[in-house]
This record gives sequence, C-alpha cells and structure tokens, in this order.
Amino acid sequence: MQKAYSELVASINQWDHEYFVLDNPTVSDAQYDQCVRELLAIEAEHPELITPESPSQRVGAKPIDEFQKIEHSVKMLSLANAFSLEETYHFFEKAAKELDKSPESLMLFSEPKLDGLAISIHYDHGLFSYAATRGDGQVGEDVSHNIKTIKSVPLKLATNHPPEKLDVRGEVFMPKAAFEKLNRVAQQNASKCFVNPRNAAAGTIRQMNPKIAAERDLQFIPYGIGDYHGDIEFKTHSQIMTYLTTLGFRKNPHCYDFSGSYDALVENYRVMEQARTKLPMEIDGIVYKINELAVQMALGFIARSPKWAIARKFPAQQVTTQLLAVDFQVGRTGVITPVARLAPVFVGGVTVSNATLHNMDEIDRLGLCIGDDIEIHRAGDVIPKVVRVILPGTHRKPIVMPERCPVCDAVVERTIGQAAFRCTGGLSCAAQAAEHIRHYASRKFMNITNLGSKLIALLYNKGIIKTIADIYTLNISDIAELEGHGEKSAQNVLDSIEASKSTKLGTLIGALGIPEVGEEGAKAIARQFKNYPAIVAASLDDLMHVPDIGPIMAKNVVDFFKDEKNRAIIADLIVAGVTWQDEPGEAVQEQILAGQTWVLTGTLSIPRNEAKALLERLGAKVAGSVSKKTSCVVAGQEAGSKLAKAESLGVKIIDEAMFVRMFVDDAQ
Ligand code: IVH
Repeated sequence: MQKAYSELVASINQWDHEYFVLDNPTVSDAQYDQCVRELLAIEAEHPELITPESPSQRVGAKPIDEFQKIEHSVKMLSLANAFSLEETYHFFEKAAKELDKSPESLMLFSEPKLDGLAISIHYDHGLFSYAATRGDGQVGEDVSHNIKTIKSVPLKLATNHPPEKLDVRGEVFMPKAAFEKLNRVAQQNASKCFVNPRNAAAGTIRQMNPKIAAERDLQFIPYGIGDYHGDIEFKTHSQIMTYLTTLGFRKNPHCYDFSGSYDALVENYRVMEQARTKLPMEIDGIVYKINELAVQMALGFIARSPKWAIARKFPAQQVTTQLLAVDFQVGRTGVITPVARLAPVFVGGVTVSNATLHNMDEIDRLGLCIGDDIEIHRAGDVIPKVVRVILPGTHRKPIVMPERCPVCDAVVERTIGQAAFRCTGGLSCAAQAAEHIRHYASRKFMNITNLGSKLIALLYNKGIIKTIADIYTLNISDIAELEGHGEKSAQNVLDSIEASKSTKLGTLIGALGIPEVGEEGAKAIARQFKNYPAIVAASLDDLMHVPDIGPIMAKNVVDFFKDEKNRAIIADLIVAGVTWQDEPGEAVQEQILAGQTWVLTGTLSIPRNEAKALLERLGAKVAGSVSKKTSCVVAGQEAGSKLAKAESLGVKIIDEAMFVRMFVDDAQ
C-alpha cells in the first residue's frame, strides 16, 4: 500500500509539473482524475500515509485566522527604475566605472519584469516549508496556505540532493486569460471585478481561504534566490535560474544574456516590446541584471536596491485622468457607442484624449459620471479603456443615452435582451450610410481597392454618393475635383470600381451590411441557399436552419430583404453591372416559394399567365386578392386598389423589374 501510494504521489506531481510548469501534458484528463481519486481514497483510509508533498496537501483544511509575521533571513530588495535607454545605459556605465571596466565588457542578463507580487518560498531539505510576501523587505506575511495551492510551486524539489535550505524568490501572477475569466464570472455574478491581473493576484494571495486561491489560476516564476545552504558554487545568475528550472520551477520566458553595449540594449528592448503583446502574462518592463555573481557582490546595494540590476519600465499603461464629457458615436449598423472624452494624459507611450466605454451597462457597472477622476488602461495599440472611478467629481453629471440619434435625429431604441442602443434611422442616417458604404467597398467584401475611407467620407459629405449603388455612377470629374485628387488617381478609383464588379454570392451578401451578418455568416447563408432569389425568399424558419445562424441574425436577414429600399438598391447594383457567382450545387430554387401566397396586379410586360405559372412552379399559390396572409404582391404598371390594400396591410411589394431579376432570369 505504501509503495502504491508513493507511486501515485510521484506520478501526479510529475503530471502537474508537465502540465503547469512545462505546458506539456502527457496524460489524459481522465487518467489524471482517476489517479487523484485513487490517491484520495487511500489517504481517507490510511491518513498515516499522507506525506507533505502529496498533491492533496495543496489546499489546507480550513481558512487561516490571521497572517503570521515572518522575518526574512535575507532582505527582499526592490529595484531602481529606468524609463529610457539612456537611463538604463547610464546605470551600467556608472557600475562599470566603479569597477574600472567598460560597460561593453559587462555581461548582462535580461528577464521580463512580471507584473504580480514578490514572494519568497522556503524549502527545508527539499520540502516546501513556508512562503512569505515581501512586506517592507524585512518582515513579510506568511501566505503558505495560498502559495501551496499554486501548481507551478513544487511541494518537493525535483532532486535527490536537495540543499539543506533554499529560499526561492519570484513573482506570483495571474495570466491574462485567467484574469479575464475571473472577471467574466464576477460580472455574471454581479460581484466586484479586479482592476488588473496584478491586483487579482495580490488580492488572492492576501486573503485567508486557500480554497479561493486554489480556484484561481495563479502561477509562480522565480527570479532569484535568497538564503541558500547547499553545495553548489554558483558563478552566474543565469546558472541559478537554470538550476531552479531543474528543481521543477517554471522558466521566465524570453531571458537573454548579452554584453552591456548600447546597441545590444536597444536591440533587446525592441525584441522585448514585440514579445510583450504575445506573452500570456502582463509584464511591466524588463529587468537587466549583471550576470556574474562576483561582480554583483563587488557592487553591492544602495538603500533598498542593488547596484547591479535595474528595471527598465515600459511606459505606464494605467493612469488617472478626468472624464470631461461623453459623446455618442453611431456605427454602421446604428449601434450607438458612448465615447469618453478625457483630459489628455500620457499613457502607454502616447497622449490620449478618448477612451471607449462599450455600452450603457458598462457605464452603470463602473458607476461613472461626467467630472469623475478615473483610471484608464491602454494595452498595446488598442483604444484605451476606462477601468474604474478613482474619485467621484464634485459636480458630477450623470451620463444619459440620448433619446434621438445625434446624427440624424431618428428615435433611439434598445433591443430587448441586448446591451446596445440603436439609431432607427437606417441608411437615411448619415453616420450609418457612410459607414455602410465603407463596409461595402472594404477589402473583405467588394474590395474596391482605391475607394478608401477618406475618399468615401469626402464623396459622402459632398452628397455625391449617398448609397452603395451611387458608387457605380461616379465619373472622373466627381473625384478629380476633390482636394488631393487628380485625373490619374480618379481613373484609378474608377478602374478599381470596374474591377470589383464581379464577385461571389457570399461576398455580396456580406457586403450588404445586414446587422450582425459578417463574412462567415454571409458565406453560410450563400452556401445554404445557393442563389440570390432563394435568399430573398427565405423565411425566418429557413434561415434558422442554416448552420451558425442564430435567431437575431436570421431576423435581421428577413427584415433586410423585406425592406423595399434595400431590394431597390440591389436592383440598382445589378443594373450597374454588378454580377456574382452563385454557389455550386443543386439550387434550392425549385420550391422556394412553397407555402406562400402571391398576388399579381397591374400591367406586366410578360404575359400574366406565364408569371403565374412561374410562381406556381416555385411552389407559390397565386391568389386574386390581397389579404393579411398574402406573402408578396408583384405590382406592374398602373397597379391600383390591390397595391393600395397591400400597402395598408404592410404586405411585401415588389415591382416587375425586381420580380424579373429575382425569378425570370434564373428560371429560364
Ligand atoms: S529582481 C534584487 N527580477 O519587481 C533584485 N524582480 O520592482 C530583486 N519583479 O520586488 C528583484 N519580475 O517583485 C526581479 N525578473 C524579475 C522580476 C522582478 C518582477 C518584481 C519583484 C520586485 C519588483 C521590483
């Protein structure tokens, strides 16, 4: 039993190491779970067998009552900061001078500066003993109960010759994905969100209940050692770091060693800045250390930081500023987005004066008012985000969604069950119309290469193009007369319009800008219905049967094609010479009108019985009078009372040209 038990402990610890340290699991979840169950069963029956390195010992039985103070045997230091290359180089230049060396002759080691909290973990004869926070550097707090739950912290060092004592120092942090998940769940449960991964990690470690810590995916990566009673004579810092990985600790990603030359520092910073966005954890800078321990010793410390290491901080990503106003922007599909106007601040290396607020729910969640002092966060190149209110303003003003669209004055509505408010102006709203044209012409859709956003805005504002169909009526002088354009560039625009005219059905559907229907949704619709008339005729139910199309998208498609204005624009596109390739395969046209009732009225240029026969072939019943049940009325010349009745009942109406385009061309 003892042997089986020890083997289980060793296997599970090995698998934990592979999974949490090496990111390289070798067993299935099922096998892992099965072994953990076996282990727990043995421990329940034979508590005398339980060893301190058993994985069951990571989560202690109950929360602690209070934090015990722990005095660090070797002080936990801090680092001096540098905010530029000059400062960094100068730091090592000074160190080199003191040593009577040239900076180029110093060997440096660079590590990402992990954004979490410093922890010292003590091992006695290879077994986890206790872990403490940094505190004031001299005295910290015992947080063993929580640190033991971190799976990348070995409970037993992976060596047969453990040092008598080892104090591993490093950073506990929460990976970005774990932080986002934690906040998502907090939001769903209407509980408090953490401001950033560092606060989440610190908040988790500085609480009493190890069960909470165990549920949150924290990690530990060492950056050095404090006390060490062992046999190895380390020569360099990198040697220590390698030793720690052999003991079972995670490796800090992107560590480099190089000479302390100016050029090498420039290159290293460039590499690290790029690596940063791809890393799974937040880093707030780069730590440069002199690699040789003898040189470190010779330099020593000033105050609380070493003279052999410096933190080159990235420009702050989080700063405070004041919310001056909130504007409401109207997007392509009419969604109205609140945008924060800020007192300009320098953050993440640039001055910003706007930040996104997403939607009104987010404003409520933040408890935000105009005039408040707020914290904003800018990561990478993305638009800065308002994170929280720091101090409510003295004359704070509530943020209210306007009742009417700030661009076209149409009524603003909120769709039930959705966070977004929308302008109901549709394509008669200038903001939506211009964005709609831009979407249509964009690379993903009609790919009109020389018709960019700026040119569209110019043409739209001058009233030269109002709809996507107007693109095809543009002539040389319309463009050549605009500022910054000549005959040649105008011709290029026209050429690219011409070249874009033949497309695919899925691309055209996506280009139409039906709310929620993106590139993939449009392709799925095209694949299902094969041709345009079948899409126009599709019912809500038909659309809901398309893989990946949900009820909102399906309704938007039906509503879009129900709107005569939209169908007219597509008819204009056809007249302008836009063509598309249907999807290959059996056209589902045969009975596309099954279950529908159509009415023909007015004078048609094709014989009425032919039109009737065609509709019947497509599965429709052709009736003589209009009722609420009528699916569609085809209105020819001089249509009279039936047309009027259809209008009053809100029945779908198409003209003959549309009818011909929808069915006749294809049917013959
Ligand atoms: S070395 C004597 N290396 O940054 C040197 N610190 O601002 C001690 N940190 O308290 C620190 N990543 O919590 C070092 N690769 C790294 C680090 C790192 C993050 C933290 C650590 C330290 C703080 C100093």
